[in-house]
Amino acid sequence: MANLSIRNLDDAIRDEIRLRAARNGRSVEDEVRVILREASQGGLTAAADLPQEPLSPAPRSREILRQHSGSQPKVTLIIGGGIAAYKALDLIRRMKERGIHVRVVLTQGAQKFVTALAASALSNERAYTDLFDPQSEFDAGHIRLARECDLIVVAPATADLMAKMANGHADDLASAILLASNKPILIAPAMNPLMWSNAATKRNVAQLKRDGVRMIGPNAGEMAERNEAGIGRMAEPTEIAEAANALLRPTVPQPLKGKRILITAGPTHEPIDPVRYIANRSSGKQGYAIADAAHAAGADVILVSGPVELDEPRGVNVKHVESARDMLSAVEAALPVDIAIFAAAVADWRVVNEGAQKLKKKAGEAMAPLQLTENPDILATISKLESKRPPLVIGFAAETEHLIENATAKIKRKGCDWIVANDVSPATGIMGGDSNTVNLLTRDKATGEIAVDSWAPMSKEDVAATLVARIASTMTKDTA
Ligand SMILES: Cc1cc2nc3c(=O)[nH]c(=O)nc-3n(C[C@H](O)[C@H](O)[C@H](O)COP(=O)(O)O)c2cc1C
Repeated sequence: MANLSIRNLDDAIRDEIRLRAARNGRSVEDEVRVILREASQGGLTAAADLPQEPLSPAPRSREILRQHSGSQPKVTLIIGGGIAAYKALDLIRRMKERGIHVRVVLTQGAQKFVTALAASALSNERAYTDLFDPQSEFDAGHIRLARECDLIVVAPATADLMAKMANGHADDLASAILLASNKPILIAPAMNPLMWSNAATKRNVAQLKRDGVRMIGPNAGEMAERNEAGIGRMAEPTEIAEAANALLRPTVPQPLKGKRILITAGPTHEPIDPVRYIANRSSGKQGYAIADAAHAAGADVILVSGPVELDEPRGVNVKHVESARDMLSAVEAALPVDIAIFAAAVADWRVVNEGAQKLKKKAGEAMAPLQLTENPDILATISKLESKRPPLVIGFAAETEHLIENATAKIKRKGCDWIVANDVSPATGIMGGDSNTVNLLTRDKATGEIAVDSWAPMSKEDVAATLVARIASTMTKDTA
């Protein structure tokens, strides 16, 4: 094998290799070996693409590594110098079990209790210990450790480390990372009960809370010291892993879980002949946004959509229709539902004398007038159903004048519970646009009184979220 000296390489390549070596905690020579091995397995990987895990002696496929580094939440775990440091080794395992990528930093004190070797073996990753390490500081490693993660966990958080955090010290790797970070921080204090109840620690705890640091524990129980008990035990590794997981993957509240919602959206197309139709300018954006918001709120959503140029919202059951009559059939087939929202701009009329063949233009002859007839009124039909009427029926009123007056008349005439009224005069740009200015009219079921709530102009997504939140709070009240 030919001898290779890095000094003979181009400056940029040399820097790149040094950077990779420092990142992966390998000597430059070892890094070159890894690069050559990768190349022989199918092409070089750019340094920026590299997963932060060093390759183990038996390298896994790069696809798997990439997959993991792309989707796994990342934690920088700082182990402080307390007796509970041994439990931090278990914490590494518990976080990994939850699909969290863990990179470990040990304070000088921590290394008196557990070894960096054990931490790196458990995390499958180099463990970091030294602020002034020329290899990892080649590219300001402490800044990367502070920022290339989604969360920093400090466990155990000793009294000393908490004092440093509260006062902004940065004289070792752990405190420098904590000071240089813009990521959420979760600490698990662990110390003797007298240390915990000391006024200085109390001041530091209060300061850290003010600074937005999250805390888990300490728990009450027996101490490592003989015959001592009280508050100061580190929270159990599973509790800390769960708290970290909850911060990394917050659960979105699902107030409409278990509810079935039917939404209509878009225009309808009323055929004149096989190639021509009557339509309107509805884009379907508002109805689609509501479907999205309702799905996010946990509802089981059926979206009956007229012809639109929008992507189907994920997780929503979409039925595509063309005409008003098709839309009514699809709506009836979807019943029963808990809530029905009719956001579609259904054509009021359709052509009676629809051509079976394409209508032909005849020179000098005017077109035969189109004879129109009224389409079924979907909102009124569903609102007035004797059986299967959804408990909450919401209509939309798109008006170009006398908005509230017309919407009030419509809520009474159609028999629905709420009307979302908007001014669609061309000057507003609402029809087909991305924002909406909405008035919500609600009819009191007992008194029949109608209340009008005028919302500030907002995006169609925000209108959807606000409407869904209002529905959720009404449904909760009704079932309380
Ligand atoms: C055996 C032993 C156990 C210790 N346990 C704790 C502890 O549980 N909590 C704590 O705050 N300090 C404890 N200390 C003191 C810390 O090791 C010391 O304050 C150290 O400076 C902590 O700093 P570090 O977390 O930055 O390593 C212990 C010291 C010894 C010798």
